[in-house]
Amino acid sequence: MMMRMVDLIAKKRDGYELATEEIDFIIQNYTKHLIPDYQMSALTMAIYFRGMTERERTDLTMAMARSGEQVDLSSIEGIKVDKHSTGGVGDSTTLILAPLVASAGVPVAKMSGRGLGHTGGTIDKLESVPGFHAEIDKNTFIDLVNKNKLAVVSQSGNMTPADKKLYALRDVTATVDSLPLIASSIMSKKIAAGADAIVLDVKTGNGAFMKTYEEAGELARAMVQIGNTANRKTMAVISDMSQPLGFAVGNALEVKEAIDTLRGEGPRDLTELCLTLGSYMVLFGKKATDLESARRLLEQFIADGTALQKFKAFLESQGGDSSVVDEPEKLPQAKYKISLLSETEGYISEMSAEDIGLAAMLLGAGRAEKASVIDLAAGIVLQKKIGDPVSKGEALAVIHSNTEYVEPIKEKLYESIKISNHKPAPPPLIHGIISE
Ligand code: URA
Repeated sequence: MMMRMVDLIAKKRDGYELATEEIDFIIQNYTKHLIPDYQMSALTMAIYFRGMTERERTDLTMAMARSGEQVDLSSIEGIKVDKHSTGGVGDSTTLILAPLVASAGVPVAKMSGRGLGHTGGTIDKLESVPGFHAEIDKNTFIDLVNKNKLAVVSQSGNMTPADKKLYALRDVTATVDSLPLIASSIMSKKIAAGADAIVLDVKTGNGAFMKTYEEAGELARAMVQIGNTANRKTMAVISDMSQPLGFAVGNALEVKEAIDTLRGEGPRDLTELCLTLGSYMVLFGKKATDLESARRLLEQFIADGTALQKFKAFLESQGGDSSVVDEPEKLPQAKYKISLLSETEGYISEMSAEDIGLAAMLLGAGRAEKASVIDLAAGIVLQKKIGDPVSKGEALAVIHSNTEYVEPIKEKLYESIKISNHKPAPPPLIHGIISE
């Protein structure tokens, strides 16, 4: 019998499970524009309220992964391990992890995106290195990974068209916040990108999609289950986003911080998160037999300069000026550096990552809309983190701006940084690890 979308909407609305063929029918026909947005909206709302079983989520993921181009990385030697972060503020982990893990011999064939709203994107950050370009063709990409163990390419426009349509639809129908839809959206892109194994960094806290640890844990478990069912070895680290990661928020500023971290002089939280995620990547890539030796290997590559050399070689291989590593003043610099001075004394008790990300976006470091042009030099460098003491008149942050008038930004930052009389315990960086 011919399947009809209206019957499938009713089936999900009434709480029944959709069959594999039914999910395939929906995704194939929606991709071909044969199912209208109004029917798809009704279905996503039914999914929002009724949820999906593990089997349904996996089927949805695989159907979306098959909806467009699937990258074939089989001509790259070794186990390709990908890493994905669910979106953070000041999160430059990819810039650090990619050369670090490649130093251990794990091939890193990274497909990355641009920033939107309060979160940043790896491609924008890398483009602050003069000459660097990520618009490389597939053969060049694969050759570079075989040669240097590392290349970063801009997300292909032909991948997962079903997810692109569906995400845009969810955005305007109040159905973004649905666990099966988020999990299948993220995992479909990872699976289409061709990696053999996936390490997920699921953020939790005010700057993240999932504000509570419980929600982040559920999302992580759903994604790990989908990945493992799809024969991609997958694990997740649940990490803190109740304050920005590291100190820098902004493209060139984060590149500078990533260089410092590769040199062993980076912020503690950023370094620790990279070592944690990187150890799993090395383990999944079978370049170490246990987590401790994987970590020691990475610590050694930071200490002896191997990782920094790898980063320089990577920049050069994609047209970038690697002298920025030793002369960071060659990165785009903002005209004005304006200190945000504390109006009271006490201890930093809260730092809204989301609001600080939004403040950086207002300075020009991020995009309010997809088409916005960004200012690579702009951003914020925090001088304090949660738990730090502060005296009146001391700098809380330095604003890097190409316009002198930054009063609204200052106001936003004052609102997002709370100071109390009592020293709070700093939030844990790693909230949990989900594997299998
Ligand atoms: N990121 C995605 O790629 N998809 C979602 O649904 C949510 C976050």
